[in-house]
Amino acid sequence: MKKHFLIALLSILSLNLVNAQQLKSPNGETTLSFLLKADGIPTYQLSYRSKEVIRTSKLGLELKNDKKSLLNDFVITDTKNSSFDENWTPVWGEVKTIRNHYNEMAITLNQKETNRQMIIRFRLYDEGLGFRYEFPSQKNLTYFVVKEEKTQFAMAGDHTAYWIAGDYDTQEYDYTTSKLSEIRVLNAKAITANLSQKSFSSTGVQTSLMMKTANGLYINLHEAALINYPCMHLNLDDKNMVFESWLTPDVNGDKGYIQAPFNTPWRTIMVSDDAREILASKMIYNLNEPNKIKDTSWIKPVKYVGVWWEMITGKSSWAYTDDYPSVQLGITDYSKAKPNGKHGANTDNVKKYIDFAAANGFDGVLVEGWNVGWEDWYGNSKDYVFDFVTPYPDFKLQEIRDYAKSKGVKMIMHHETSSSVRNYERHIDTAYKFMKANGYDAVKSGYVGNILPRGENHYSQWIINHYQYAVEKAAEYKIMVNAHEAIRPTGIARTYPNLIGNESARGTEYQAFGGSKPNHVTILPFTRLQGGPMDYTPGIFEMDISKLNPSNTSHVNATLANQLALYLTMYSPLQMAADLPENYNRFADAFQFIKDVAVDWDDSKYIEAEPGEFITVARKAKGTGKWFLGSVNGDNSRTSNISLDFLEAGKKYTATIYADAKEAHYKTNPQAYTIRKVVVTSKSKLAQFCAAGGGYAISFLENK
Ligand code: NOJ
Ligand code: CA
Repeated sequence: MKKHFLIALLSILSLNLVNAQQLKSPNGETTLSFLLKADGIPTYQLSYRSKEVIRTSKLGLELKNDKKSLLNDFVITDTKNSSFDENWTPVWGEVKTIRNHYNEMAITLNQKETNRQMIIRFRLYDEGLGFRYEFPSQKNLTYFVVKEEKTQFAMAGDHTAYWIAGDYDTQEYDYTTSKLSEIRVLNAKAITANLSQKSFSSTGVQTSLMMKTANGLYINLHEAALINYPCMHLNLDDKNMVFESWLTPDVNGDKGYIQAPFNTPWRTIMVSDDAREILASKMIYNLNEPNKIKDTSWIKPVKYVGVWWEMITGKSSWAYTDDYPSVQLGITDYSKAKPNGKHGANTDNVKKYIDFAAANGFDGVLVEGWNVGWEDWYGNSKDYVFDFVTPYPDFKLQEIRDYAKSKGVKMIMHHETSSSVRNYERHIDTAYKFMKANGYDAVKSGYVGNILPRGENHYSQWIINHYQYAVEKAAEYKIMVNAHEAIRPTGIARTYPNLIGNESARGTEYQAFGGSKPNHVTILPFTRLQGGPMDYTPGIFEMDISKLNPSNTSHVNATLANQLALYLTMYSPLQMAADLPENYNRFADAFQFIKDVAVDWDDSKYIEAEPGEFITVARKAKGTGKWFLGSVNGDNSRTSNISLDFLEAGKKYTATIYADAKEAHYKTNPQAYTIRKVVVTSKSKLAQFCAAGGGYAISFLENK
């Protein structure tokens, strides 16, 4: 009996293998199998170096109010295989050129009962898979509403995951490291307070999700090219270890209004047995459309300072006055209001930052709280909250504009929308024109609080279309965008390289809101940074926030050397030196590194990487050929052993090493650092101590 069962099972398995359509990656190490199961259910399976990455998983979509969903009853009517291999040059980036090399299989399915067509397009890279659903123009499928996308990612074990809780409104959470089976019990603890948040399931997580398997694989699940579709979360069936896509609903609970022809975003699965390859992968960018902006001469990487940390820590305020419990734009007379004496965006203070930027070679100065409306800007579901063009009485716009110009410093605009999306769109043209008229060519936007139109979520389709609208509209005006609290990036900056930054994760601000986990920055590059750069705002030198604001007892959970390393490990063409000028003046020798470090690169070499533990990367500056290196460390002290073989052979360099002192610790002694200079070559080896929550940074200067 048993034997017969086994034979039957084996023959089913081999039948599956025979019927499955297979695709291999260019180097042959990654294999995708596609198979229509009984009743015409599409499934796929993925393996890497003969290890199973994704067990047989179902594909399809459930439709709302439709006679039949796109889940079964399919037959294959066509299969097209092709290959692609091309190099492209990003406008800014970690490397000079990016290779886009994949094998493709596009399977056309026909649903028998409805005579509808759906194509599933697979692109297989050496480092993973991207696939999407395509709905060609057709008579029987034109307009439809997605009730739920039913894409499965069946895991081959109870992997270790580095996750944040699924949420329709925020990604500003610390990561939890646990087994997949522990997500359910740890979920409640993983959800910390935010001004807008909505979790949906105790086993819901967000992408990009990083995992590590017991047999040594690193697996990452995310999406690419999220355009005109809701953000995908994942919900885990923790009995069977199967993730299923969980789209962000709109106010009515609907998950996507589609008009064919339409392609969904790509669902991505990266895999490697070397964590460094996950960090180096450009698969997400490669799955996006090429650059659509013809003239990119105005898109420039930016190193900046700002009137910002003083507000975040509570030392200063965004608001001008404490007199008014509420304000109304165009009605409230600010000239009659008593200034509160704490308004950060006052002309003298702004000039101080402009001087500091000019003296230290920064490109720009961001000023928040410059425009009227901050007295009641959040928590009130207020529609007409900001107009983005009216400065407070003590922010002398023209004087500041002329002063910045005379010092060769660019002002960076700030548009906090307070999530009043309709209000922002109402003003956006005027606001962008106002920027151009006043010499601003970059804007930091923000979406704090619950979205208006009320009931919409930060990550639902309509709002995603808004973020995209703002980026495309900005491109028309030659404006660069750095959007906070917007949807986490999915590689769209390849297509619109004016999207030079996003926050969309727990940034440095949380170090002043009670602190973040010390290993947070060893996870972000594996997760949030997969889709694009983060405006993480590093460079905090004073970790005791009560020194800035006695009523704020937060502690920055990082050493000073760790803060320097972030300029390398948190890749971004937009980098802030976030602390106050006086703190940089106190530690002028360490500040030298922030002054020197580049923000745009011709090459990057990931030297060491382990999610949650450490990341070490060396980068070669664009144009100048200067090398810099950064290494961040998690909760436990360690010695980083590396080779400097990325340096050019035969040359000598002076390496200036900014490192944790032996007694350094993120909590008890964060400002203990050493700076030493050593002569090195490509043959040199380095054994460098890293404190808990620490790290090191190196600048290399060629000895001529
Ligand atoms: C949240 C942003 O992340 C932060 O950088 C900004 O200062 C505040 N919103 C106010 O706009
Ligand atoms: Ca934020």
